[in-house]
Amino acid sequence: MTLLDLSGVSFAYGGGKCVLHDIDLAVAAGSNLGIVGESGSGKTTLLKLLLGLERVSTGTVSFRGETLEPRDRAFMRGFRRSVQAVFQDPYSSLDPRQRVFDIIAEPLRSLKIETDVVGAVAGALADVDLPADAASRYPHEFSGGQRQRIAIARAIVAKPDLVIADEVVSALDLTTRTRIIDLMRSLSSRMTFIVVSHDIALVALLCDRLAVLEQGRIVEQGATRDILARPAHPYTQRLLASTPRMPQRA
Ligand SMILES: Nc1ncnc2c1ncn2[C@@H]1O[C@H](COP(=O)(O)OP(=O)(O)O)[C@@H](O)[C@H]1O
Ligand SMILES: [Mg+2]
Repeated sequence: MTLLDLSGVSFAYGGGKCVLHDIDLAVAAGSNLGIVGESGSGKTTLLKLLLGLERVSTGTVSFRGETLEPRDRAFMRGFRRSVQAVFQDPYSSLDPRQRVFDIIAEPLRSLKIETDVVGAVAGALADVDLPADAASRYPHEFSGGQRQRIAIARAIVAKPDLVIADEVVSALDLTTRTRIIDLMRSLSSRMTFIVVSHDIALVALLCDRLAVLEQGRIVEQGATRDILARPAHPYTQRLLASTPRMPQRA
C-alpha cells in the first residue's frame, strides 16, 4: 500500500528559485526509504513537503491516495496521527523545561488521543531502550544518543504508520549512530521509516529503497542493493566513494 506519493513536484521558497524539480517518489508501507544527497541538495525541503509543512509549487503530494491538504484541519489531524517526524538536532528539538514524560506524551495530548498516557509513555521508553525512570528527568541529563531516543519515543508514542527522520544521527559519534539505526531497524517491523542522510552507507543498513537527490533532482532511485552494487549516476558513485566504510555493527 502506498502511504505517501509525490508526483511531478517542484518547489521554490517564497518566489525564489526552484529548489526541487519534478520529483516523483512513492513510499510504500513496510519498505523503508532512504533519501540521500549532499548538504543543500533539497532533502529537508522534500521532507517539509511530505509533512505538509510547505506547499508544493506544482505537482501533488498525496497520503493514502488523497491529496494532502495542509489547510484542512480534520485531514491533518488524521495525517499527524499516521505520520510523525524526528529532526536532526537532539539538543534543540526537546524543550529543556519539560520532563521527558511530558515531552513524549505531547503527541497524545495535541492529537487528543484517548489512551492510558502513563502506560503509553512507559511503553515508548521501553521501545527505545531507555529506563522507566527517564520519564521524571529533563533532557539535559541525557547524552546526545539518548536524547535522540527520547525524540524517537515521542515520534512513536501515538503508534504512527510512518516516521520521517531528518539527519537524526548526523550529530552523533559512529557507534551511537549505528545503535540508533539498529533501533529504527527493530522498530521497522511495526512502522515504516523515511530516513534522510548524506551518509549513503548508513541509510543502507535500514532502508531497502534509496532515492538520490542532487541539486533538487532525483538522479537515481530504486532498490538499495542494486544502487550499492551498480550505482548508475556519477553523483551516486561520488557519494559512495565519500563514505567508503560500512559502519561496524554494534
Ligand atoms: N527557508 C528557506 N528559504 C529559502 N531557501 C531555503 C530555505 N531553506 C532551504 N533553502 C534552500 O533550499 C535548498 C535546499 O536546502 P535543504 O532542503 O535544506 O537541503 P538539505 O537538507 O539537503 O541540506 C538550498 O539551496 C537552501 O539554501
Ligand atoms: Mg537538511
